Amino acid sequence: MDSYINSVDFFKNTKPETLLKEYGSPLYVYNESIIRQSMRTVAKIITKYPFISNYSIKANSNLEILKMALEEGLYCDAMSEGEIRLLLLAGFPAEKIFFVPNNVSREELQFAIDNSILTSLDSLSQLELYGQLNPGGKCAIRINPGVGAGHHDKVVTAGKNTKFAIAANDIDTAISIADKYDLKIVGINQHVGSLFMDPEPFLASCRNILHFAERFERLDFIDFGGGYGVPYHKLSGEESFDFNALTEKLTKLLDEFVEKVGYTPLFKTEPGRFVACEGGILLGKVNAVKTNVDKKFVGTDIGMNILMRPVLYDSWHDLEVIRQNEVVDRSEGTETVTVVGNICESGDIIANERELPVIQKNDIIAVLDAGAYGYSMASNYNMRLRPAEVMIDRNGNATLIRKRDTFEDLFKQFL
Ligand code: LLP
Repeated sequence: MDSYINSVDFFKNTKPETLLKEYGSPLYVYNESIIRQSMRTVAKIITKYPFISNYSIKANSNLEILKMALEEGLYCDAMSEGEIRLLLLAGFPAEKIFFVPNNVSREELQFAIDNSILTSLDSLSQLELYGQLNPGGKCAIRINPGVGAGHHDKVVTAGKNTKFAIAANDIDTAISIADKYDLKIVGINQHVGSLFMDPEPFLASCRNILHFAERFERLDFIDFGGGYGVPYHKLSGEESFDFNALTEKLTKLLDEFVEKVGYTPLFKTEPGRFVACEGGILLGKVNAVKTNVDKKFVGTDIGMNILMRPVLYDSWHDLEVIRQNEVVDRSEGTETVTVVGNICESGDIIANERELPVIQKNDIIAVLDAGAYGYSMASNYNMRLRPAEVMIDRNGNATLIRKRDTFEDLFKQFL
């Protein structure tokens, strides 16, 4: 694919230069149609049995995107009190929110209890605390399925080397802790990690968790977690995640399970990245081009505070170069450059030694697949402002959906 931007007509009636002029650079731009389409895809992973997709809002918690998720019939999972508060603000009723925290305080658990939000506990010690706070109540537990997956060690959340979940050999102890407090374990959940394109490890984990489910008398739900990948190398032909193949294989596992246990629980999943990723592009400007000793650098305003993924996980994001509102064609010539940001760290690199069209000062760099874990992980490092977020709606027009920070915002916390 030469250009993703052109192939999906990402900017519709808007123009990248106009957007940057109006809302400032850098800028997160989202496309409503693409995001809604992804929401519809994850809503139908299972059709044969009762099924719910919980959007994992840590990927992108913009209020407008949450409202879209609600309209599209998704439920959500939350990782913190802040995420629960935001979901309530977006209009989600308590029963559509699933709290899946890790190592939270008594106060945070109490907040969920006070707001009737079902909570999953992911250690024996948090289960014990929850039992003290909510005796006679309902809860879920997160079980380590023993198989992990993900694009980097830092995002694998199951298997032998993770802080998450209750190990399978502690299930009996978990059940007895729950009994001690008259807590009813109504569901079990897992999350293998983030970003797999090969469904096999995920399916293996589902097989395991379904097997663990047999240890419970009857569960209201079984939640398989998220992690479905998106093709970050789409410009070089990487294919999208094959949901049809997954549906077929997963449904078979569910058939066997339902047949064996004789009842049908609700099945759930928790996709985050897949929902928001491809519908988001980060735009920034080239402020300087230079050769330092032997290496050519393209200096942009997209610092690691704006998009942390390349620095934190060595993640790849495809880049397109825009000049006079057109994507620059690679046939006009390419060169190898290192694209960097404006933060005071040598590691502040968006793309290392990447072959790109020859870039000039004032060009726009478009970072693809930036809708997930982009803005949500942005910071004010170096006293920089987090950018605005803009949504291109179904009619093709742009609306501001989050203001850019102001220096006043940054300084008002100081007394
Ligand atoms: N459920 C739980 C319990 C999770 O911890 C996560 C992600 C998800 C669902 C959603 O996973 P997804 O479908 O988005 O892969 N910042 C990293 C990803 C961290 C994922 C954290 N947990 C990145 O930028 O790659």
